[in-house]
Amino acid sequence: MNQFEIDVLKGLSAHPKSLPSKYFYNEIGDRLFVEIMKMPEYYLTDAELEIFEEQTAEIIKVLDLTKEEPFEIVELGAGDGTKTIELLKVLVAENYKVEYVPIDISMHALDGLKARLVSELPALSVKPRQGDYFEVLSSLKATEKRKIVLFLGSNIGNLLDQRAQLFMQNLSKNLNKNDQLLLGVDLIKSADIVLPAYNDEAGITRKFNLNLLQRMNDDLGANFVIEQFEHCPEYTEEEGIAKSFLKSKTEQTVFVKSLGQAFHFNQGEKIHTEISRKYNDKIIQSLIAETSFLVMDKLVDSRRYFADYVLRRN
Ligand code: AVI
Repeated sequence: MNQFEIDVLKGLSAHPKSLPSKYFYNEIGDRLFVEIMKMPEYYLTDAELEIFEEQTAEIIKVLDLTKEEPFEIVELGAGDGTKTIELLKVLVAENYKVEYVPIDISMHALDGLKARLVSELPALSVKPRQGDYFEVLSSLKATEKRKIVLFLGSNIGNLLDQRAQLFMQNLSKNLNKNDQLLLGVDLIKSADIVLPAYNDEAGITRKFNLNLLQRMNDDLGANFVIEQFEHCPEYTEEEGIAKSFLKSKTEQTVFVKSLGQAFHFNQGEKIHTEISRKYNDKIIQSLIAETSFLVMDKLVDSRRYFADYVLRRN
């Protein structure tokens, strides 16, 4: 059994049913996520881009960057790099000794980013690294240069709290004293702003969630009838976690060929497919409690929707 089969078997056999959100990101899912980021309701991307565009000088200041000391900007899951390019442009124009190291699991994403940087910022030294974040980071640990790690887009919010804490511990172990981390997170706010971000009117997030069923049909020979499920997001400000579910419209049985197994759904039964945690200062403190990180500063957008926390490795 491959990992997808193992996770589907485990998730659909459990009560309540769930599936890991990492399986959203196949070729179709990647494309849909790019579309989600353009939706007017999905404020996260615009809010963080505003911080990078409007507060570039502030970012450089809080990160203690100087023109004398060479440093590396290491980005975890760089995507198309749109926000980071805003910072890199200024650093290159002002002659900082910067090298950019985007890390991604997808070689395809890295190739696209490299091509974009060659045309937009030809003077910048770019060293893309493909692979697992921590493997690459531990291999970089030996280099003398100070590292500024970027983990943007509230990607950490897709991890359960305990996993996110382990992630931060691992990150802390793989950095040197005085390295810094810019951690982009969505802030806790009212449901009337958060819920539409996960239920856009154009129905792109709905397609993104339902694509998980299509992926099981395509990759595992399942026979989900996509129309028999609906996209159901939930969020309360008290809990601060946006959750996505796929709800069965009827009582039905689905067969997954590669597992040789059938799964029964009651009418209204849900598969939990994603969490998107939102943050405040207290949650950030609990996130880094068992690490050597200290919060140095926090940059927020004009609507106070999103924050980039500046953390220093002690
Ligand atoms: C990638 N991640 C930060 C997105 C989020 O907001 O949790 C994924 C997403 N899911 C639905 N819409 C966007």
